[in-house]
Amino acid sequence: MKSPPPTARVAMSYLFLFLLYSYSWATLAYTHHHDSFLQCLSLHSGNSTSLTKLIYPRNNPSYTSVLEFSIRNARFSTPTTPEPLVIVTPSHISHIQATINCSRNHDMQIRIRSGGHDYEGLSYVSQVPFVIIDLINLRSIDIDVENNTAWVQAGATIGELYYRIAEKSTTLAFPAGVCPTVGVGGHFSGGGYGMLMRKFGLAADQIIDAHLVDVDGRLLDRNSMGEDLFWAIRGGGGASFGVIVSWKVKLVSVPSTVTVFTVNRTLEENGTMLVHKWQSVAEKIHEDLYLRLFLRAVNSSQQQGKITIQASFTSLFLGRIDQLIVLMQESFPELGLVKEDCIEMSWIQSILYFAEIPQSESLDILLNRTGTPSFFKGKSDYVKEPIPEFALEGLWQWFYEEEPGSVELIFSPYGGIMNEIPESETPFPHRAGNLFNIHYGVGWTEEGPSASQKHISYMRRLYRYMKPYVSKSPREAYMNYRDLDLGINNIGKYTSYGQASKWGLKYLKNNFNRLIHVKTTVDPQNFFRHEQSIPSLFRG
Ligand SMILES: Cc1cc2nc3c(=O)[nH]c(=O)nc-3n(C[C@H](O)[C@H](O)[C@H](O)COP(=O)(O)OP(=O)(O)OC[C@H]3O[C@@H](n4cnc5c(N)ncnc54)[C@H](O)[C@@H]3O)c2cc1C
Ligand SMILES: *[C@@H]1O[C@H](CO)[C@@H](O)[C@H](O)[C@H]1NC(C)=O
Ligand SMILES: *[C@@H]1O[C@H](CO)[C@@H](O)[C@H](O)[C@H]1NC(C)=O
Ligand SMILES: *[C@@H]1O[C@H](CO)[C@@H](O)[C@H](O)[C@H]1NC(C)=O
Ligand SMILES: *[C@@H]1O[C@H](CO)[C@@H](O)[C@H](O)[C@H]1NC(C)=O
Ligand SMILES: *[C@@H]1O[C@H](CO)[C@@H](O)[C@H](O)[C@H]1NC(C)=O
Ligand SMILES: *[C@@H]1O[C@H](CO)[C@@H](O)[C@H](O)[C@H]1NC(C)=O
Ligand SMILES: *[C@@H]1O[C@H](CO)[C@@H](O)[C@H](O)[C@H]1NC(C)=O
Repeated sequence: MKSPPPTARVAMSYLFLFLLYSYSWATLAYTHHHDSFLQCLSLHSGNSTSLTKLIYPRNNPSYTSVLEFSIRNARFSTPTTPEPLVIVTPSHISHIQATINCSRNHDMQIRIRSGGHDYEGLSYVSQVPFVIIDLINLRSIDIDVENNTAWVQAGATIGELYYRIAEKSTTLAFPAGVCPTVGVGGHFSGGGYGMLMRKFGLAADQIIDAHLVDVDGRLLDRNSMGEDLFWAIRGGGGASFGVIVSWKVKLVSVPSTVTVFTVNRTLEENGTMLVHKWQSVAEKIHEDLYLRLFLRAVNSSQQQGKITIQASFTSLFLGRIDQLIVLMQESFPELGLVKEDCIEMSWIQSILYFAEIPQSESLDILLNRTGTPSFFKGKSDYVKEPIPEFALEGLWQWFYEEEPGSVELIFSPYGGIMNEIPESETPFPHRAGNLFNIHYGVGWTEEGPSASQKHISYMRRLYRYMKPYVSKSPREAYMNYRDLDLGINNIGKYTSYGQASKWGLKYLKNNFNRLIHVKTTVDPQNFFRHEQSIPSLFRG
């Protein structure tokens, strides 16, 4: 149910006044709340005429398009999804400061959005009156090729970052995700990984400085925020601590020519054996080689009407074809990789390849932020011991329950440098001892709550099936694959440790406890909060 425009809402509330006093009182207070918040913002605009143009209240004709532009999960763009009272799209730090100030004074919750890829829509949905700070206008990128560093504003996408690096150099790169429209604000603050993870680590591992606006409206850098807070935002989620404005990152060196391949094998082509073997190969193989595995149901090419499982080995090698063939012969001859499967290209071309963008497209497609929202539910797991063959056979059965193509599992290998970084170096704790991460995804096209329920319930049952084969105590999960099934904070201002530790220990292991300490110091009143934000232990 979309809310009626403000004037209609006021008129309605007068009508109800005679019928249901308490209800209409709440509605009036709500409207008043909204107006005084807007007044506060316009007061703060002062000499800055620009701020008023960057504020979208519900009656602004662009409100809906600004809101929807960065929504990636259609589950959170339905007629019953709660919408913000206003969207602010700052182009200057002072606009962020003003929004925080007015939100505190008018008891309004803030949701912070960069790329909008949050799996549970937490960057643009809340159950209480809220405002969105959407960083889309803060997305400048400065590449320093002399020092191999870059300053990247939080609203930039990783596609924009990759493009700007490639403009300056063919041998510099950055280790972050595969989907170009992911925003650096959420991605880096939750970890961020892609095809370079085994060689260089996470996006968060490259951060050397940051600018953040805190709860008191202060603009802080690494030096002024201190090492505890600087540690917290490199994997503990930004939105618990403040509004991240920009990151300074190290760039990494790659060869000017890299090699990619995709080899598909179905069950009829020894698929089960290959997946089983892959589990002990991909984590140990040379760190220049990233062997990622996608699993999905496909129509059999051999027998019409038959559905089979396809294992798609999708890989990046930081070197040339000849060397790659030798490596694969040594470690994984069963896959039968041949030269003809391999393609040499530049690192930036490989970004298009893994994003499944045709190589004929010009590189500036990486600057395109437009995406099509789809209905999906995701979950994640970590695997420490190879999954036995009989359990893989059991897993295949799950794919037949949904339409071919709608369920996809991604196995992303760990090892390499991930084994060398201590668990407490950053809040991201999933380091040595992990063979691979599993990403579970189910997508659908039917609208409405009953379709959502059906597919979400499927996903929960599949997750239950996998329990014996994945990490335990805690059953670890990747924060950037956010999953509210793991637990949510109490509604209201404060959450108990016991409540938050349900999801917190899974994403963060023991780092969760240090994050609570940082949170309690920098935001004791828990102003920056959402369903899975780090709780403050202060009760003042
Ligand atoms: C299609 C798709 C592909 C993906 N591929 C990968 C991948 O290859 N590798 C990988 O690691 N992950 C991947 N992800 C997950 C992705 O890393 C997370 O969803 C990430 O949090 C998205 O960041 P965002 O800025 O786009 O999202 P948003 O929804 O804008 O933000 C996510 C969270 O971060 C907070 N936040 C955002 N910006 C700021 C800021 N400036 N300051 C403080 N808090 C902020 C938000 O409030 C929210 O809690 C993918 C997700 C999708 C939907
Ligand atoms: C307000 O005006 C001063 C002086 O002209 C300027 O320095 C400042 O940047 C302006 N503030 C904003 C938010 O634009
Ligand atoms: C908001 O700004 C006003 C004036 O700029 C200042 O006096 C007040 O302390 C600020 N409030 C908060 C909560 O930061
Ligand atoms: C490289 O870093 C040095 C030292 O911080 C700095 O003085 C120099 O300006 C930087 N180079 C560029 C091109 O910014
Ligand atoms: C592998 O299979 C996928 C479909 O699942 C297809 O898009 C891709 O082109 C195939 N790749 C090769 C090299 O056969
Ligand atoms: C499957 O493996 C067997 C032996 O391991 C091999 O002989 C056979 O050629 C493989 N089949 C395919 C289709 O690769
Ligand atoms: C950007 O991407 C969207 C969705 O993929 C597409 O519809 C649109 O044409 C693209 N725009 C440009 C300028 O390429
Ligand atoms: C499989 O084949 C059916 C028709 O036989 C078709 O409708 C469907 O789109 C195909 N699915 C995929 C993933 O190719």
